[in-house]
Amino acid sequence: MKNSDNPTPTATNKGVKNNIVQPSPDAASELKDFFIDSLKDIYWAENALVSALPKMASNATSPTLTSAILEHLAVTENQVKRLEKVFELLGESAEGKKCEAMAGLLKEGDSILLETVPGAVRDAGIIAASQKIEHYEIATYGTLCAFAKTLGENDVAKLLTQTLAEEKEADCVLSDVALNTVNMVAAE
Ligand SMILES: [Fe+2]
Ligand SMILES: [Fe+2]
Repeated sequence: MKNSDNPTPTATNKGVKNNIVQPSPDAASELKDFFIDSLKDIYWAENALVSALPKMASNATSPTLTSAILEHLAVTENQVKRLEKVFELLGESAEGKKCEAMAGLLKEGDSILLETVPGAVRDAGIIAASQKIEHYEIATYGTLCAFAKTLGENDVAKLLTQTLAEEKEADCVLSDVALNTVNMVAAE
């Protein structure tokens, strides 16, 4: 064995060992449990979006942006129902668990409203905040689809794949609105 295969402990990797987090008493030990926890997290997040999107739409000036947000609100309401179907298929009750990431993204969206004057600049800010949200959802549903397939939950995977496609579509629509209208006006 070469010396490099068996490195002597350094201050850095000793620190890594000392940083191992002790799991809480209800921590998931099976992938299925972690999957259910993650579904509860995104269920909370989608419900929070249903409450937050009307405010974003009200603060947008561009009619194209307003209608894109309102359209995604209807899609999001359906995603909530789709998640309820997922819980049903898994024999679990549909309940949410606070998603700290979405709570943070929505808080950032609120500060962007405070930091921008209504009009094209605020619209650009709303798109920026919305795209961060869509990217978070794309990452989340991508992972959830992979978990569902690994667990052999093919019907659940199909439902989650539909939502993943809708989140990608919403992101593309926002990019189009930004490129075709809002950003150009905001830069004037
Ligand atoms: Fe969503
Ligand atoms: Fe979304």
